[in-house]
Amino acid sequence: MQVSVIVPTFNEAPNIQELVDRIQQSLRGRQAEIVFVDDSTDDTADAIEKAALTAELPVRVIQRTQPVGGLSGAVLEGLKASTSEWCIVMDGDLQHPPEVIPALLTSGIEQDVDVVVASRHVDGGSSAGLSGRVRHLVSNSATILTRAMFPTRLRNCSDPMTGFFAVRRASIDLNSLRPRGFKILLEVLARNPLKVAEEPFVFGVRRAGESKADFRQGLRFLIQLATLRFGRLSGFAVIGALGALANLAIMAALQAFGVWYLLAAVIAAAITIVSNFLLQERFVFNDLRTEGRNVWMRFAQSLAFNGGETTLRTVVLWVLVESTPIPSVIAQGVLLAVGFVLRFVYHSRVVYRPKLTTSVSFDLENVPYSFQEQQAHDGSQPR
Ligand code: GDD
Ligand code: MN
Repeated sequence: MQVSVIVPTFNEAPNIQELVDRIQQSLRGRQAEIVFVDDSTDDTADAIEKAALTAELPVRVIQRTQPVGGLSGAVLEGLKASTSEWCIVMDGDLQHPPEVIPALLTSGIEQDVDVVVASRHVDGGSSAGLSGRVRHLVSNSATILTRAMFPTRLRNCSDPMTGFFAVRRASIDLNSLRPRGFKILLEVLARNPLKVAEEPFVFGVRRAGESKADFRQGLRFLIQLATLRFGRLSGFAVIGALGALANLAIMAALQAFGVWYLLAAVIAAAITIVSNFLLQERFVFNDLRTEGRNVWMRFAQSLAFNGGETTLRTVVLWVLVESTPIPSVIAQGVLLAVGFVLRFVYHSRVVYRPKLTTSVSFDLENVPYSFQEQQAHDGSQPR
């Protein structure tokens, strides 16, 4: 097989037949297949089976019973299921015109690159089909921010947010990818030094169904970007910062209703301890959840630290407020920042400590590979 077209689908039944027809039209004469990776809750898989019956090229569907990593996780599963030299990753809602596929492949082969990005931001490209001004603003801001954080890796990529690209499968280390959310191309380019070319495309109007992009995907993107750039610490920092802001807002709001500042501080702490734990489980340490103890043990360990740290911080807050002119919310902000680093070290080394995979020898000459493996666990840094 030369080309696998990987299509992640979530409730795209009305689009499937036209998509298969147009993909096979664009790949006529090549040894190609379509691999759908489906997480739908509707009859998309039936629509794929039906289209496969009359298709000239092989059409496969991987129905994920336990979807992991959303759109990106689906794409990764499709890449792993392919044996082709080239993979085309594209959406299943016809916003990515299949007619662009030949240009992506030709460009990849002729320029001898690893990735060919279908870009909306080069001459001849357009994001016209993106629904609404807000999406345009968010997409353009995310593009500027991302390119600023990866100036080298993304120097030849004007559209790292796109979900439409061709990739030479052997050029990427699939196991290095940590798929979550929508931005699989960012994951690929940030974690692998790749030669990149671009072809223009016009992002079309969605044919049927609706976009699955929402606020959660936006938060996932920010965590992904921060974690890619600075390692796991930053994903933890984004959640810690959101938690600290929430803590201060709750404390200020309670005091505005006349609640004594220490009681306000304790209530704010209790609420944000629980919310921070849930967010870090979901977005920062989710790949280590199987390593840690069971969720209640993890919560107990997290609560023990946070409870102790809050008690100590509240005592210090009281001393500072009663003995210095520092306003209580400022004092709280400084103490939260100090507590943050201790919190991260404790959580990554205790609550989510990866299990050793071999007995640890103390022969210092050859460091047991499990330490190196643990090192890898603590956030593999993009090279
Ligand atoms: N398997 C699977 N699982 N597929 C998913 C999931 C999921 O959790 N979420 C979305 N999809 C599929 C949709 O069915 C569609 O085929 C494709 O992924 C894109 O989803 P949309 O909901 O249409 O995304 P969008 O149009 O808002 O954004 C697209 O364009 C952006 C700009 O190129 C996506 O490709 C974004 O990744 C991209 O940044
Ligand atoms: Mn779409």
